[in-house]
Amino acid sequence: MTHDNKLQVEAIKCGTVIDHIPAQVGFKLLSLFKFTQTEQRVTVGLNLPSGELGRKDIIKIENTFLTDEQVNQLAVYAPRATVNRIDNYEVVKKLMPTLPDRIIGVLRCPNGNCISRFEPVDSSFAVKQRADGVHLKCKYCEKEFEHQVVLNND
Ligand code: CTP
Ligand code: ZN
Repeated sequence: MTHDNKLQVEAIKCGTVIDHIPAQVGFKLLSLFKFTQTEQRVTVGLNLPSGELGRKDIIKIENTFLTDEQVNQLAVYAPRATVNRIDNYEVVKKLMPTLPDRIIGVLRCPNGNCISRFEPVDSSFAVKQRADGVHLKCKYCEKEFEHQVVLNND
């Protein structure tokens, strides 16, 4: 290699780096999880070259740490993400999301007749591992959808 392009977004002193987000998904995570609704500095890299994925997105949120629960909520969007906790410029912890039992509040039910679309309630989907992949079952209408159908619905 003739030049080092490893650090593509400035290093942070303290906070969270969500790395290895599939390209095109970073923007979605920012809006769904409201990562920008903070006073803290948020830096974002989109479509960065990445060995494994071809292209990746990265999100860095200063002085903010995600709970294990919050990390797991990322799993359906970014199953291979790495969530790094940074302290004094060092990576002190690396978490990989694992599929949670339930996804609450971030998704919209694809069923146009579902009560959750008309009432002020948090959406809620049970996560089901099926033979053909991950399915999401709405708590309100009890319909089950292939996960991509729900993800593409907002
Ligand atoms: N990082 C950062 N600020 C720091 C330290 C690290 O923004 N002070 C970022 C790095 O740029 C990288 C991520 O945090 O995107 C993880 O850092 P590190 O574990 O050092 O990188 P890798 O070994 O490449 O991580 P992985 O093995 O998860 O690919
Ligand atoms: Zn529903």
